[in-house]
Amino acid sequence: MDQRGINLLNRHEPGPTRRYVVRTFGCQMNEHDSLTIRGLLAQHAYLPATTLDEADLIIFNTCTIREKAHHKAFSEIGRTAQLKEERPHVVVGVCGCVAQQDREGLFQRFPHLDLLFGPDQIQELPRLLDQLHNGESHVSALQCINSADDYHFLDLIPWATAVEQGRPTAPPATAFVTIMKGCDANCAYCIVPSVRGKEVCRPAEAIVSEVAALAVRGVREVTLLGQTVNTYGNRRHPGVIPFPDLLQRLADETTIARIRFTSPHPKDVNAALAGAYRDNPKLVPHIHMPLQAGSDAVLRRMRRSYSRQQYLDKVALLRAASPDLALTTDLIVGFPGETEADFLQTCGVVRDVGFSGIYAFKYSPRPGTSAAEALHDDVTEREKRDRLDRLLTMHNAMLQRQLAANVGTMQEVLIERYDEGSAQWTGRTPHNTLVHCTGASLAIGQLAIIHITRAYGHSLEGKEREVIRRELAGGGGV
Ligand code: SAH
Ligand code: SF4
Ligand code: F3S
Repeated sequence: MDQRGINLLNRHEPGPTRRYVVRTFGCQMNEHDSLTIRGLLAQHAYLPATTLDEADLIIFNTCTIREKAHHKAFSEIGRTAQLKEERPHVVVGVCGCVAQQDREGLFQRFPHLDLLFGPDQIQELPRLLDQLHNGESHVSALQCINSADDYHFLDLIPWATAVEQGRPTAPPATAFVTIMKGCDANCAYCIVPSVRGKEVCRPAEAIVSEVAALAVRGVREVTLLGQTVNTYGNRRHPGVIPFPDLLQRLADETTIARIRFTSPHPKDVNAALAGAYRDNPKLVPHIHMPLQAGSDAVLRRMRRSYSRQQYLDKVALLRAASPDLALTTDLIVGFPGETEADFLQTCGVVRDVGFSGIYAFKYSPRPGTSAAEALHDDVTEREKRDRLDRLLTMHNAMLQRQLAANVGTMQEVLIERYDEGSAQWTGRTPHNTLVHCTGASLAIGQLAIIHITRAYGHSLEGKEREVIRRELAGGGGV
């Protein structure tokens, strides 16, 4: 019997209760997927563990958007080899985008791994665990599902599970709701389409009932998720409606107080979406609209399908409909061929639009992408770092002025959490600005008017002025 055989024998004695840890890296999609995984595990009688040492099942939900994220996943996975030697019954699994990218190669690199599954195979987890517990080793499910007929979105598993098991957890103030999966765009630098497969849209009815159910359970704000969330409904498929119509249905048919979405693609920001910002009071006046670069030459090489001017026109269209709109964005510095002049054009757009938040990254070539294959990564690491620093410094100064202008104003804040250490509540304004605050009647899920007293580098501080009672405001709900 080889070492793995011994491990498998041990696996039959996992103890009375199995405990799990799910470690999450990457974007909101992964965060949401991890919640789904926790829900599935709860349905199968697993309980959460607080440390790796207490866990019988360890799952790494990984990200590969940049090389650094990929390295991080490898080092975390590598660190469990020792643990597995000491406690061979522990099941170690990898899911998410590194699993989808490296596939069974991960078993070669990390022989202590038991389990691999891709982002489209989460519902297979219980079956895979059964296989392991029945003595199989190295089990995997790594197919991308590319057709709407074959892909099934999981409905509300984490919530349903907690409630069905009679252990309802306090509802969070906010929740993510998946409205589509995959990506049909073709950005030259991006690995997402190859690890998340083709775009598939979830039927509107399922989205509306999930949001309605979340609202009834006490969630006040939803963020609709999709890689290009506003291409939802572009291709007609049974049950799928245009994106602005979906926003309207959510406002009319649920009691949710706030609606957000991330991330829209600028090419599909149009008059109808601007109309939603004008007419739908539940849609918050904030949009995260990735720009990536401000130079036409770079945008063309990135295959972003819009020019600098077209992006600025979209901003103008949105601001005409919603003058108070806050914009945030994603940027890449040091894309192949980016000159100092190109970079300064990016800085120019950041300044002209007045973004209230930027997520800026150094370009990282990703295997299999057209940029990695066809374009030489010619901007030096030093130059990338320097451009990133300059961009962040410039933006921080701008943000400081924006935040300082809030001092003395009243802001509507949705309270999301309490921090024992600072004895402060934290929430966000409709503009998505973080506010730390105090107040006797604040609670998670409370909408409150906060008097802003101070501005920090990336957040505000304030005191409760009044609590908003808007329990079942808006549409009929369920
Ligand atoms: N689907 C979203 C975001 C995808 S990934 C969108 O298109 O808006 C999040 C961000 O990571 C991207 O917006 C981009 O700024 C950055 N990114 C993606 N690939 C990258 C790469 N190869 N190197 C550096 N940054 C990258
Ligand atoms: Fe990647 Fe572009 Fe798709 Fe965003 S839109 S996930 S950057 S390919
Ligand atoms: Fe990372 Fe995958 Fe999201 S690569 S950014 S976790 S879609």
